[in-house]
Amino acid sequence: MKTKDLYFKYPRSERYAIESVNLDFKDKKITGVMGENGSGKTTLLRLLARFIEPTEGKIEFGDQEIGFSPEDPELGFFEKDVESEIGFYPKNRGLDQEKMTKKVLEQLDISHLKEKLPFILSSGQQRLVSLASVLSGDPDVIILDEPTHSLHKKGEEKIGEVLKKINKTIIFSTHSSEFALDYADEIIVMHEGKVLAEGKPRKILKDKDLLEKAGIRMPEIIRWAKERSLQTIPKDMNEALKIAKERGELD
Ligand SMILES: Nc1ncnc2c1ncn2[C@@H]1O[C@H](COP(=O)(O)OP(=O)(O)O)[C@@H](O)[C@H]1O
Ligand SMILES: [Mg+2]
Repeated sequence: MKTKDLYFKYPRSERYAIESVNLDFKDKKITGVMGENGSGKTTLLRLLARFIEPTEGKIEFGDQEIGFSPEDPELGFFEKDVESEIGFYPKNRGLDQEKMTKKVLEQLDISHLKEKLPFILSSGQQRLVSLASVLSGDPDVIILDEPTHSLHKKGEEKIGEVLKKINKTIIFSTHSSEFALDYADEIIVMHEGKVLAEGKPRKILKDKDLLEKAGIRMPEIIRWAKERSLQTIPKDMNEALKIAKERGELD
C-alpha cells in the first residue's frame, strides 16, 4: 500500500491535517505510526482505511481487503453480544463465521466475554473485542488506531504477540514507545500533519532530538542503555539485568 502526495483538510478547517505524505507500507510488515496529539495519526489511518477521501493525492490499495479498528471502539459496536460483533465481519465476507469467531476469541483470551453486551465492557476489553472483530474477517491489511490504549502491560503483550504471529500487513498508531519498540518493524513519525521521520524502531527511538521535537517518550530500556553509553540496546529486561550484573551494578 502506497500514498502519493497525500493531503487532507477537514471541512471548515483552515489547515491541512495531512500534508504532502508519501509512504510505502511494506507487505506483511508491522508499521507503527507515532507522534503527539494532533499530529495527524488518526487522520492518516482513516485515509488508509478508506473512511475518508483524500483532499488531494491518492492511495494505491491494489485489491487488498482492509480491516480497521477505530480510536473509539465503542462507537463502532452495534451487535447485541460480543460473539455476534466478532462474527459480523467473517459472515459479511462469506467466511466460516463460527470457526473464525472461535479462533480469535481464543487467540485474544476473551472467550469468557462472548455473551456480553459490547457496550458494558471495560475500555480495555472493548479494545480487545474491537481488534477481534477485525482479525475475524482475515483482511490482508489491518489498520489499528491506538490498539493498546487503556490496556495494561499484559494486554499490550497479548496484542503484540498476536499481531507478530499472524504475518499480515499491519499499521497501528500508538503512544506507547515500548509497544512500538517491541512490535513494530518500521516506525513513521508524524508531526503537524507531515512525516517527520521513518525508519527502524531502534534507530528512531534513540534519536533524542527527533523524539523531543515529535513529543515522543524514549523507551526506558533505550534510556537505560544510553545512560551507560552501551553500543547495543538490550533485547529485553532479562538481557539488561545480565549486563547490569556484568558491570557489577547489582553487587
Ligand atoms: N473531525 C475533525 N474536524 C476538524 N478537525 C479535526 C477533526 N479531527 C481531527 N482534526 C484536526 O486534525 C489534526 C490531526 O488530528 P488527528 O488526526 O486526530 O491527530 P492524532 O490522531 O495524531 O492525535 C488536528 O489538528 C485535529 O485538531
Ligand atoms: Mg488519534
